[in-house]
Amino acid sequence: MTGPANPGGRRPPVGTASGGRNPTTPVASARYPATPASGGRRPILAANWKMHLLRAEAVAHCRALRRGLGSSSVRVVVFPSFPLLPAVAAELAESDVAVGAQDLHPEDKGAHTGDVSGAQVADAGCSWVLCGHSERRRDHGESDELVARKVAAAVRSKLCPLVCVGETREERAAGRTLEVLARQLAAVAPVLPERFVLAYEPVWAIGTGEVATAATAQEAHRFLRGRLGELLGAERAETLPILYGGSVTPDNAAGLFAESDVDGFLVGGASLDPEKFLGIITVCV
Ligand code: PGA
Repeated sequence: MTGPANPGGRRPPVGTASGGRNPTTPVASARYPATPASGGRRPILAANWKMHLLRAEAVAHCRALRRGLGSSSVRVVVFPSFPLLPAVAAELAESDVAVGAQDLHPEDKGAHTGDVSGAQVADAGCSWVLCGHSERRRDHGESDELVARKVAAAVRSKLCPLVCVGETREERAAGRTLEVLARQLAAVAPVLPERFVLAYEPVWAIGTGEVATAATAQEAHRFLRGRLGELLGAERAETLPILYGGSVTPDNAAGLFAESDVDGFLVGGASLDPEKFLGIITVCV
């Protein structure tokens, strides 16, 4: 099922990993070619900060990111934890970096102590929200059905959902990967809005240092794009970005990004270091 890397020459020549890159040097602003084969998909680089960073660290991080990005053609989104959102949104105001929340409640308001609504995160400066991250599926028992309700809530609050799907190690070992991806995608399909992004995040690759091979990622991405085509039409599916997430670093990003259906990354650990995150971005410009 795995096709050749870079069929039809869709990708521009990818940069090499830039381990020693100076974050104050702006990322080059090369234009991503909008060829018919690519559906004109613009790369997206998303930083999932998870439950890390205090306010002063987050502010310093945003400043380094702004300095390092310059006028890049890629789309960049950071996902800080809730208390950091106002400070991060203020730091990134008038910049090309968007802000997203890591979660939202499926309802718009009500008696739900400790929860946060889509309207509240939008009001705090967010335009994106993560839905269905495997750590929430694992830590909070989020079902496919709940993830779908959260996507619907995101849509009501005009947030762009970044919907995460991915198989566990056991599911892969049992040969059930594609079945799991199809099930997770089918659950959210009825509520998917015009503007959304999908992330393939194999659970066994998240935070483990065990990154998927480019061929493994491409196989899953191709499969997901095919399913999106069945659900939403092939032409539309070609325009929808699918990100890879799971142990992405500046050293492995180029190989993954060379695959024709890998449109960017959702980065956890490496996104906590602005220099490393900028190194990954450099690969995708
Ligand atoms: P990781 O996390 O890059 O630390 O593996 C990715 C994610 O959970 O989104």
